[in-house]
Amino acid sequence: MRAYQVVEPNGIEAIQQVELETPTPGPGEILVKMKACSLNYRDLLVANGGYVRNDVRPIIPVSDGAGEVVSVGAGVNGFKPGDRVIGNFFQHWVDGQMGDAGLTSALGGAINGVLADYFILHEEGTVKIPDYLSYAEAATLPCAATTAWHALVDVGGIKPGDTILLLGTGGVSIFGLQLAKAMGAEVIITSSSDEKLARAKAMGADHTINYKTFPDWEQKVLEITQGRGVNNVLEVGGAGTFEKSVASVGVNGTVSVIGILTGLESPTLSLMTIFNLLHIQGVYVGSVAMLKAMVALMEKHQLHPVIDHCYSFSDAMQAYQQLASAGHFGKLVIENDQ
Ligand SMILES: NC(=O)c1ccc[n+]([C@@H]2O[C@H](COP(=O)([O-])OP(=O)(O)OC[C@H]3O[C@@H](n4cnc5c(N)ncnc54)[C@H](OP(=O)(O)O)[C@@H]3O)[C@@H](O)[C@H]2O)c1
Repeated sequence: MRAYQVVEPNGIEAIQQVELETPTPGPGEILVKMKACSLNYRDLLVANGGYVRNDVRPIIPVSDGAGEVVSVGAGVNGFKPGDRVIGNFFQHWVDGQMGDAGLTSALGGAINGVLADYFILHEEGTVKIPDYLSYAEAATLPCAATTAWHALVDVGGIKPGDTILLLGTGGVSIFGLQLAKAMGAEVIITSSSDEKLARAKAMGADHTINYKTFPDWEQKVLEITQGRGVNNVLEVGGAGTFEKSVASVGVNGTVSVIGILTGLESPTLSLMTIFNLLHIQGVYVGSVAMLKAMVALMEKHQLHPVIDHCYSFSDAMQAYQQLASAGHFGKLVIENDQ
């Protein structure tokens, strides 16, 4: 089969196209013909190396894949050839709190991922695709959408009328927008681009802020919320945005710590963390139960993921370059043309 492998930890150039044996599913495993996969910022981190606990070489990259079941291993009862499926980011985090087995079961990091003609899933980490979604749409769900769900629902306990702050218009934030609106929340979203903000507004964002035009965007957030602050911020930035996110959250609010788009330098501790009794919680994608609950809500509301562009398998490295340049809005997808 055709596959890509991250060979050395030194960026996109370290990813090579190779020919590998098509894997055979072992007990409890499922062989899937890849129809589409989607990229996440995390796939750049994996290529760059240093992806803690999940830094194996050589590795087939990319966590988010959708495809058709080809064959199943011994003991698999819940899936059969022909089923349309996606794999949970963590193959062995089924429900409840994260455990040791879950932590080292990240597709495209700790174990081989999906950027190949065929990939292996474990039965417990496999979820059926609802009929209304295409393979390309379903391929966007495991990482970014589940992360947004985890932060909004499991960490933030979202309820109608809450105000949610989203940073930028990448994969996690655009899913955050769709899910938060479907659950009756008010959404504030930032971007470096007025054009992207107009698109976010057309999707239902209540308030938009250009973070380049307004570097003190936390002040705008407080203005919009009449000084109250938001209930939950999906903090995908890191250095330079973390303090502003803390300043944007109201009493008893939540900072869902998700990403490091702007780097990892240590933030300064703010007294408001204490005086506003903030919940500062790390979010690491999610369990199979979270993915299933999120898919059920999306189906109920007939939500379609926002795909910026679809690339062919042979153009996968162009998709990586596009991701690195951050020109996209929503998700970048690679479709299998064979
Ligand atoms: N913890 C987890 O489980 C988890 C899961 C998924 C993702 N993540 C992390 O979350 C982050 C986002 O991931 P993603 O896949 O959504 O990334 P992405 O699609 O690559 O997002 C890129 C967008 O982020 C925005 N951005 C960049 N710098 C920004 C800043 N200073 N302030 C506000 N927005 C900024 C830009 O939006 P505009 O172009 O609109 O300005 C950019 O287009 C990454 O660090 C990723 O590693 C973590």
